[in-house]
Amino acid sequence: MIKILFVCLGNICRSPAAEAILRQQINDLSLSDAIEVRSCGLGDWHVGQSPDQRMQETSLKRGIKLSSIGQQFKLPFFQDYDYILAADREVLKKLQEGAQNASQLKKLHLMTAFSANYAGEDVPDPYFGQEEGFEHVMNMLEDSCEGLLKKIGSGN
Ligand code: 4NP
Repeated sequence: MIKILFVCLGNICRSPAAEAILRQQINDLSLSDAIEVRSCGLGDWHVGQSPDQRMQETSLKRGIKLSSIGQQFKLPFFQDYDYILAADREVLKKLQEGAQNASQLKKLHLMTAFSANYAGEDVPDPYFGQEEGFEHVMNMLEDSCEGLLKKIGSGN
């Protein structure tokens, strides 16, 4: 089983969307016995909460239902997961500072790391912005998740 964790700040916008998009792609490829996906946030503000209403509506328009419940990143996650994917450089830096060794550091990437069209870009935080910010997040994450599955499928 390959275990993937998406991390953003609040765990109510970007990482829940990434989790749901990747899970749908995994299901479409009948890979749900092989790959598991979860999400969390660095902050504790939204622990126990459903995703942001605007993120839910934007993803539902694309047939994707968000089902995660807010949880905060915990140190054991560094061991539990194989890929730990940060929404942006700020989140990535915090995770890098928390990693205990080289093998944990190697698990850390930006969410866009394997994207065809957005490689290396931050997924911008849509929380304080407008509607189009949520659409942009979905575009970036759909492409990023496809790239991630290709990378995992390629086995290197
Ligand atoms: P997310 O967006 O990191 O994509 O879930 C945010 C949600 C809430 C806050 C920040 C970012 N907040 O400060 O409450």
